[in-house]
Amino acid sequence: MLVLKNLKTEYQTNPIGLDVANPAFSWILESDREGTLQKSYRVLVSDSDEVIWDSGLAQTDQSAYVEYKGPQLEPSHVYQVQVQVTDNHDETAEITGQFETGLLNPSEVEWKWISHSEDLGTVPPVYVREFSLENPIKSARIYATALGAYELELNGKKVGDYFLAPGWTSYHHRLQYQTYDITEELASKNTLKMTVANGWYKGLLGFAGQSNHYGDQVAALAAIRLEDKNGNVRWIFSDEEWQYETGPIQLSEIYLGEHVDYAAGPKPRKSVTLFEHGKEMLVAQENEPTRVVMELSPIEKIITPKGEVVLDFGQNLTGVIKCQISQPKGTEVILSHAEVLDKDGNFYTENLRAATSQDHIIASGGIDTFMPKFTFHGFRYLRVEGLVDDIDLNDFTACVLHTDMEKTGDFVSSNKLVNRLYQNIQWGQRGNFLDVPTDCPQRDERLGWTGDAQVFASTALFNFNSALFFRKWLRDLKVEQNEQYGVPHVVPNILGNQDGAAGWSDAATIIPWELYQAYGDKRILEDQYSSMKGWVDYITSKTQNGIHLWQQGFQYGDWVALDKEESSDRVGATDVYFIASAYYAVSTKIVADSAEILGFKEDASHYQQQYQAILSDFRNEYATRTGRLVSETQTACILALYFNLVEDKDRSRVMETLVTNLNKHKNHLTTGFIGTPYLCHALSENGQHELAGQVFLKEDYPSWLYAVKKGATTIWERWNSLKEDGTFDESGMNSFNHYANGSIGSWMHQKLAGIQIVEPGYKAFRIQPQFIQGISWVNASLQSPYGLIEVSWRCENGQIQVDVTIPANTHAYLVLPEKEEVLELGSGHYHYEYATTTDLSVARYSMDSTLKEILDQPLAVEMLESYMPGMTTNDMIEFAYNLTVNELLVNMPPEGKQLFEAVLAALNQAE
Ligand code: BGC
Repeated sequence: MLVLKNLKTEYQTNPIGLDVANPAFSWILESDREGTLQKSYRVLVSDSDEVIWDSGLAQTDQSAYVEYKGPQLEPSHVYQVQVQVTDNHDETAEITGQFETGLLNPSEVEWKWISHSEDLGTVPPVYVREFSLENPIKSARIYATALGAYELELNGKKVGDYFLAPGWTSYHHRLQYQTYDITEELASKNTLKMTVANGWYKGLLGFAGQSNHYGDQVAALAAIRLEDKNGNVRWIFSDEEWQYETGPIQLSEIYLGEHVDYAAGPKPRKSVTLFEHGKEMLVAQENEPTRVVMELSPIEKIITPKGEVVLDFGQNLTGVIKCQISQPKGTEVILSHAEVLDKDGNFYTENLRAATSQDHIIASGGIDTFMPKFTFHGFRYLRVEGLVDDIDLNDFTACVLHTDMEKTGDFVSSNKLVNRLYQNIQWGQRGNFLDVPTDCPQRDERLGWTGDAQVFASTALFNFNSALFFRKWLRDLKVEQNEQYGVPHVVPNILGNQDGAAGWSDAATIIPWELYQAYGDKRILEDQYSSMKGWVDYITSKTQNGIHLWQQGFQYGDWVALDKEESSDRVGATDVYFIASAYYAVSTKIVADSAEILGFKEDASHYQQQYQAILSDFRNEYATRTGRLVSETQTACILALYFNLVEDKDRSRVMETLVTNLNKHKNHLTTGFIGTPYLCHALSENGQHELAGQVFLKEDYPSWLYAVKKGATTIWERWNSLKEDGTFDESGMNSFNHYANGSIGSWMHQKLAGIQIVEPGYKAFRIQPQFIQGISWVNASLQSPYGLIEVSWRCENGQIQVDVTIPANTHAYLVLPEKEEVLELGSGHYHYEYATTTDLSVARYSMDSTLKEILDQPLAVEMLESYMPGMTTNDMIEFAYNLTVNELLVNMPPEGKQLFEAVLAALNQAE
């Protein structure tokens, strides 16, 4: 039977407050019959039972982003949507939903900006409006926004569940307003309060310690729309009739935390003043709001060696604490947040730099329920000071905050460390997708660093549906880009004008391209095309003497790579202009391909030619005639291979260089932000997949699993944020929640699970799992725009089993492990089972670290020394380096074998 599911309007289910002139509808087909495809659709949009748009019968398999093409939509209006589909088996199905428009022309609404003239110091104002209902109400909405961060309260209860509204945008160009349904919340007499704190608008932001980036006065804008049973509408706008007061919040800043005084009594209300500010920058909320998406209880109370009371939430997260305290009136309780404890087990906050991240509560004397409203912290540990009695763990909850995107992807395998790594990658995204993609959520930064977002995007789009999140952010990028400086390093840009930098500013081209690939929504390319092209033209303006290379200006290079001794520039050893020119090629190719897709023929051919010219100049400048690169770092080789920058004849030479370089480092990476995302891809795609597996599964520094073994619950900024000896990297830049190196996620989905896009949006995809030693099964899933894709493979006990799920209205190309044939499959569930001689149970490459641990056992050392007399510890590691544990055991004399097995068993147990 055919059923339709997930009817979405602009990626959302039954949204309200939508200001999109031609919203797009998407739905999913599900059927128990194999090979189901959509044959036709019909979409009907109605206004109170009257059809206002009928798409007609569209003979097409398009089931995503079908745009509304009817008459102009009315503001604050509900429309019903009905989708009828016929599939290739002639089955039919239907789904219905609705959407509600927002103000559509918010600048023309009669709402007025209100503020206050008195100096309130750090105390946020609370704007108040009382109103009574004249008639019974059928529907009520509040539209609101602020210069600052705001929260609404109606009759003593928070309105909606948004956090840090109106979100962070390039406020002078674009300021979102939000829509709330308050129909059920109204009483006959009502009090609406709107607290406005500094937020990103006026608060302290950036490492330069600056406030007032957008303005030095907070203000509010609100409109209440009341519709009675007869359809009569009454509006209440923010205007001079409103008053203001102050509440318990004394200070609230994103970096500093929130201070509340529940003992302070109410202050008299005063009249608001009107505030001069335009409305032309208003836009409706564009992405999913920031919400509390999860709550965690503390797993342990710790008394540190210094005697501090610390709660451990077991997970490094971004959010706030909710707590209940009953303390004598006036007692001050201080909550401090930290990501890690130091070597001695003491609370460690130095890596927060100037972000104090402390909440202060002054008790009322009764029961106080505290949860900050206008700040957030990056933390795992909470230090609690000031309680007069013993702490009760049940009174404290960590509320995880992020943009409430739909979780779409998952990955689990036979390797526990790898699974933790995967969770860490997802936690990295949770922690840093808080309205804008931030570098980190804890120190005095938390900025929309373009480079970090660019390298992580492909992984991010698999894990959570980030279409709206990035669409909003890219619009900010576009308005902040200009001809003179190109694309900023952070978006929204609070760092001021700086020339664009490679890898960072390329977010302008790469992210729209990745979005188009992952979701198949061509509108993202249409929206961003001028920005994409503008960025490439900017780079062209930096080329000199007719040579198509970018060889001037400031660059971040291969940021925080390990191949150059730590220096203040942190750019790594790869020639920074090699990287810049490589990205010039990549971005130009993306613009050429996008122009082709959008039907801009002239541009397509212009940028295609430009791309060829860059390639040719790149090869002349950076590769010798025999295929040597001028920069022979891992990252240079990776970029040359992954981005096809060298001629085919030279690929094997570059690959050899990469392999030799890795071998010299005992198959460890030395890459920074730029090389890391593609290292394993480059190896897997060039005949060295097994080596990719070895690098990936390294457990000692530097590696992804090193951090996991050190107890990481998120991705670190540095490969050695926490060093072997338990001390921290002290460069002043040491975040424990920095998703950039989590970019390995894309290799895990694409190569280990084997899910690869063939047609945008996974309309067609390839499934080609590739084994590595040390992982004997993988289960991965993706909620794609067409439905659920699942891949499970297992290679154990001489058997390979593969199970795949292919959603309706798509098809897949399956290449089974150890087989050559490409199977073309329509939708359905498929199971394969066949014999193999492959044994994946043991990771060769984990041998050196396992051996190191074994060598820590005195008895083992004694045994090994008698087995290999005269060998140094390093020699032994070298010897064992290329053996699996099994092979080593086979080579052992019986007494050694027994001992070895005992040590291994103990080690496994310890894990
Ligand atoms: C951030 C990075 C960012 C970088 C720019 C740092 O302070 O945390 O992740 O990309 O600056 O190089």
